[in-house]
Amino acid sequence: EKGGWSSFMRKEVSEQPDAVANTIRGRIVDGEVHIPELESFGDDELRGIRRITVVACGTAAYAGQVAKYAIEQWARVPVEIELSHEFRYREPVIDDGTLVISISQSGETMDTLMAVKYAREQGARTISICNTQGATIPRESDAVVYTHAGPEVAVASTKAFVAQITALYLFGLHLARVRGTLPHGALVDALAELQAIPAKIEEVLGESERVAQLAHWMADTRSVLFLGRHVGFPIALEGALKLKELAYIHAEGFAAGELKHGPIALIEPGQPVFVVVPSPRGSANLHPKVVSNIQEIRARGARVIAIAEAGDAAVLPFADEVIRIPLAAPLFEPLLAVVPLQIFAMELSQAKGLDVDQPRNLAKSVTVE
Ligand code: M6R
Repeated sequence: EKGGWSSFMRKEVSEQPDAVANTIRGRIVDGEVHIPELESFGDDELRGIRRITVVACGTAAYAGQVAKYAIEQWARVPVEIELSHEFRYREPVIDDGTLVISISQSGETMDTLMAVKYAREQGARTISICNTQGATIPRESDAVVYTHAGPEVAVASTKAFVAQITALYLFGLHLARVRGTLPHGALVDALAELQAIPAKIEEVLGESERVAQLAHWMADTRSVLFLGRHVGFPIALEGALKLKELAYIHAEGFAAGELKHGPIALIEPGQPVFVVVPSPRGSANLHPKVVSNIQEIRARGARVIAIAEAGDAAVLPFADEVIRIPLAAPLFEPLLAVVPLQIFAMELSQAKGLDVDQPRNLAKSVTVE
């Protein structure tokens, strides 16, 4: 079923444009978000939500962390991300204004399932974002918004991740419309941005060969750091997770703003650092701050690999390598920036002769605690 691909992961990475397109399909009607699966949540109920708690593990939790930025900006509801196993073993504050959203590709992750059950017992309403029809977590939830990434076989999650962000963004825009927190024009623009993503991921996939070369040059690397800011922060964490699980290389992701609070001490000559550079067009003006982080680590000998949008010339004097992503509104950049990081980890794993689809010690779904 690999259909000519050398690994399931390679196939699934290449299927990401479809994973996003299929998750959008049928959910944008006449320029409006439309999520029929959420009909059991009346508009009044959605307007009454005071807080959203997301429960998930691993890559799914990073999808939640990306979506937090978008949902808070669009729908003006506080969103917190909780690792399922941390959530259920304390006494989390849940009330009837709390919506609990679980994210799980498999729909079978034991800790996430138990977190959802716990939340329901406490009276919360629950929505499941899931990629597997009829799995246990959606059955235990009040509503399910399926991601339509298709079956994901490789242990490392890739196409499910971009589909999860897509589903959460659709949800966020739905919530914003119902709550009246976003002007109509902004809603229309955001939906158009989302619909443009599949073609842009396709463009990023066109860079695969360069990323593969980079990975082959770096096959002996013992440690890689990842920096990001805003929505680029969870992407840095995801890039590090991919590298750990696939290539067994020590990797850590940091919020770029934390550098001076500790991590910069790790920088010594030759240390590879991936930097997810925010768009220079972003309203928060984070771009110059991250460019100056790049200068700081470069001055200490870091080998900088920047993931930066097309035309961003400010990174050129300081980065050793620049991987380009097409222009997109800042909140949508994670859907593009994650792709080279997935490919990098996959290629490095392959360069080391490891099993890309089935890394040691890991299972596709963690159905025990
Ligand atoms: O099936 P789930 O989405 O609940 O799985 C969650 C994590 O176990 C999963 O994302 C894991 O972190 C992946 N191996 C990461 O690539």
